[in-house]
Amino acid sequence: MLQIYPRMCMTAELLLLMSFWVPAYSNTVVSGDVGEDVILPCTVEYKEEFSYNTLNILWKTEHIHVYSFFYGNFQEEHQDEIFKGRAQLFHAEFPKGNVSLLLRNIQTSDAGIYTCSVFISKYTHKRITELVVRGK
Ligand SMILES: *[C@@H]1O[C@H](CO)[C@@H](O)[C@H](O)[C@H]1NC(C)=O
Repeated sequence: MLQIYPRMCMTAELLLLMSFWVPAYSNTVVSGDVGEDVILPCTVEYKEEFSYNTLNILWKTEHIHVYSFFYGNFQEEHQDEIFKGRAQLFHAEFPKGNVSLLLRNIQTSDAGIYTCSVFISKYTHKRITELVVRGK
C-alpha cells in the first residue's frame, strides 16, 4: 500500500531520526550563572549551496525540542514550552553557517547536553555542547 506523507511530516521524521545519533559526550562546554543569557555555539561549513528553503536545523537537549527551523521558518509548534520566548537563533547568520543558539535567563534545570543538528540537501552536521549552570 502506498502512503503519501505531506512534506512537513517527512521533515519531522527526518529530524527525529537525526536526533538518535547523539554521542554520549561533548567537547564544548558553555557555562553561565542562573539568570544569565548564553550562546551555545554551532557553526557548520556547508558542502553544498546555501538556501534557507533547504536548510533544516534542530536544537535539542535530551529529548526536548529547543528550536526548530525548516521551510525557511522557525517552527514554533515544535518548541517545548520551557523554552518559549527564551531561545533564539540568528537567521541572518545562517548563510555564514552560524546557527548558534541564544538562550536567555538560564535556569539550573537548563543544564545538560545540547545537540545542534543541521541538515541541508543530503548532508547532516551535528555539534554537541554541554551547558553548565552555576547556581547562586
Ligand atoms: C553567531 O552569531 C551571533 C549573533 O550575531 C554572534 O554572537 C556569534 O559570535 C556568532 N558566532 C560565530 C562563530 O560567528
